[in-house]
Amino acid sequence: MTITSELWRERDAAAVWHPFTQHAAWIEDKPAVIERAEGPWLFDVDGVRYLDGISSLWTTTVGHRTPEIDAAITAQLGKLDHSTFLGATHQPGIELAEELLTTAPGMSKVFYAGDGSSAVEAALKMAYQSALQRGQTRPLFVHLTEAYHGDTLGSVSVGGIELFHDKYRPILLDTLSTGSPGMRRPDQSPAERALEAGAELEKLMAEHGERVCAIIVEPMVQGAAGILTYDAAYLRTARRVADAYGALLICDEVATGVGRTGKMWAIEHAGITPDLLVCGKGLTAGYLPLSAVLATEEVYEAFLGAPAQVRTFFHGHTFTANPLCCAAAIANLRMMKERAVVDQAAELGERLAAGLISVAKHPGVKEVRQLGTMIGVQVEPRGDRTGFEVCRAAMNKGVWLRPLGDVVVVMPPLTLAPPETDLLLGALETALDEVLSV
Ligand SMILES: Cc1ncc(COP(=O)(O)O)c(C=O)c1O
Repeated sequence: MTITSELWRERDAAAVWHPFTQHAAWIEDKPAVIERAEGPWLFDVDGVRYLDGISSLWTTTVGHRTPEIDAAITAQLGKLDHSTFLGATHQPGIELAEELLTTAPGMSKVFYAGDGSSAVEAALKMAYQSALQRGQTRPLFVHLTEAYHGDTLGSVSVGGIELFHDKYRPILLDTLSTGSPGMRRPDQSPAERALEAGAELEKLMAEHGERVCAIIVEPMVQGAAGILTYDAAYLRTARRVADAYGALLICDEVATGVGRTGKMWAIEHAGITPDLLVCGKGLTAGYLPLSAVLATEEVYEAFLGAPAQVRTFFHGHTFTANPLCCAAAIANLRMMKERAVVDQAAELGERLAAGLISVAKHPGVKEVRQLGTMIGVQVEPRGDRTGFEVCRAAMNKGVWLRPLGDVVVVMPPLTLAPPETDLLLGALETALDEVLSV
């Protein structure tokens, strides 16, 4: 007997609690039950295929089940499944750090974590402790309104999305919030907003800068806020202001990194170097959970000293630098270099931009925001779940999209071929027509 999606959904509803999910509506929404994947395609248990238009939550770089990455994980599995990184080391952990550092000039050491959120936690603690070990007590973090850095309590503390974060404020760290450079008034250009938001940051730091250990930003794009893009000048201001007040600049590249914006790292759009660079998601090509914090030599040195000085970074996880995850990431980074995947992502961005011209003119679309392969289509709300309805209509056309409120997010694998790109854009337009035509 074939077990259909419907039967699996019933079993799921009886046993599972999903992230970011209202279970009262779960079965009714008919979530897909995915069985296998190949390249940019996902297949459900009924054999229906969907183009992965959100790169499996922004992680897939070159598509699913890539032979080189499959082979690297299998080869690693034949040698070492897991061994601790506390008091020991291993080849994949070392080689990945070396490989990562070649992509990020100015960064000197790699600290591994599991998910994006846990890497953000590590970065926040590093920033606080490094100030302490330079003789300064700086208990505050500065973050942007509309920011998203993950769901653990430290990362929620530096979040700025009311819907996700406000409930938890009473149990969070002390932070200061400054206006998002992506929140423009209709009459403002991105450059004008960057200037205005930069001045706000400067004012905040003039008042509190001596107690701030770090400014944390998502460089160029605030992803979870609905792909809010902003002008690179803001990052240059943040760099300058952080330096002026002796605070660190943490760039959270969990969403924007590993080629997603058409550059290896989004900071390259602004030509800046952070003190701490956080990455995750695409690092293992979307195969396995692995994240990392890249630190400058200066930050790293603040943690050196004789054991009795207790300058150690007392932080780590059981599965830090799991060798299978590292092997996947090494294969991904090497393949990305060999196949010039970042250039391909930039080209895909251009092709998508050309196709999005007509989407932006759709009467039901308020705004289209894009940087490289990160796209947010802000639709006119027609009820409570307009973004969801558009995504469901696209799903019926075989293209998997996912909304963030009234923003339809489009984020395909970096190497999506022209025919699939056209299919994606076509399904998006048809879905917009179906849901938003007057
Ligand atoms: C910028 C940013 N930081 C951190 C995170 C959290 O990563 P994870 O979900 O892997 O914990 C995300 C997730 O979307 C993100 O977009």
